[in-house]
Amino acid sequence: MKKVIVLGGNGQLAQCIRHVDTKELDIVFFGSKEVNILEESHLKEVFEETLPDVVINCAAYTAVDVAEDEPLRAAAVNAQAPELIAHLCEKHDAIWIHISTDFVFDGNTPAPRTESDFPNPINTYGKTKLLGEEIIRRTWFKHVIIRTSWLYSEFGSNFLKTMLRLGLEREELGIIYDQIGTPTYAIDLAEALVEIATLDPPAFGVYHYSNEGTASWFDFAHSIFSLTGSKVLLKPMLTSQYPTKARRPSYSVMDKSKIKEAFNLTIPHWRDSLERCIKRI
Ligand SMILES: NC(=O)c1ccc[n+]([C@@H]2O[C@H](COP(=O)([O-])OP(=O)(O)OC[C@H]3O[C@@H](n4cnc5c(N)ncnc54)[C@H](OP(=O)(O)O)[C@@H]3O)[C@@H](O)[C@H]2O)c1
Repeated sequence: MKKVIVLGGNGQLAQCIRHVDTKELDIVFFGSKEVNILEESHLKEVFEETLPDVVINCAAYTAVDVAEDEPLRAAAVNAQAPELIAHLCEKHDAIWIHISTDFVFDGNTPAPRTESDFPNPINTYGKTKLLGEEIIRRTWFKHVIIRTSWLYSEFGSNFLKTMLRLGLEREELGIIYDQIGTPTYAIDLAEALVEIATLDPPAFGVYHYSNEGTASWFDFAHSIFSLTGSKVLLKPMLTSQYPTKARRPSYSVMDKSKIKEAFNLTIPHWRDSLERCIKRI
């Protein structure tokens, strides 16, 4: 049985891993209080005690707007900590599965991005996540970096849960329609991560995983309210009408051919996954 450790064990994605069938894996979860990934001594202790075959890093600095004011904190968690983990994975010959983001792209090209496309992040969060990828790539070759997008689920804070709350509080909501991406049910990603951790990866490197299909935030919200029968009035808004501290890519759909082929995955369409998630909430 493969021994797997999950870092950032209480975040949204890690909670999803806790709730899927983990098959043949012996998984141990470590929340930020048990293991702070900035503390080398914590990490060393965990590696020495558990002797992992696979490490899944769900820990990250994910406050996209706040990162603009805290670039050093974001870089510490998203780039410097991965360097510590990479060295320990190398020492223990463990495969490292790391989660990255569609925000490594600038979103200026309206075509699905492949893993070989040139990244060019336009906000601090994306820059620190890309730096983390680069550090992992040059430190330990047994890595699988998975870029994902627009995660939501029944756990943690996310767009779906915010919409469900606002739908009860408001009669009218303005939602952005000129940012296009793919909503991803974090349970689907968690199932894919279990599959990847179970197999011996045919190739190490970067992969893209999101649900199938494309949507704007407006489409996503519209589907949420149609599925829940909400009467809230949705108004389409431009990004320029809703200024945020961090810029977002206007088009961040990713091509998933590589991961589907490498791990023989079937990826659900985002609308089907959204329906499944809402039924569970
Ligand atoms: N959410 C999205 O839409 C999205 C989109 C693309 C990519 N991603 C990537 O997907 C991954 C999972 O995201 P998520 O939605 O599960 O994020 P999340 O819910 O914010 O979880 C991140 C976790 O990291 C932990 N963490 C932060 N600093 C830490 C530290 N120094 N040591 C240990 N743990 C620490 C946090 O713990 P505390 O809460 O205790 O601080 C939190 O539990 C991340 O790599 C993220 O960049 C997410």
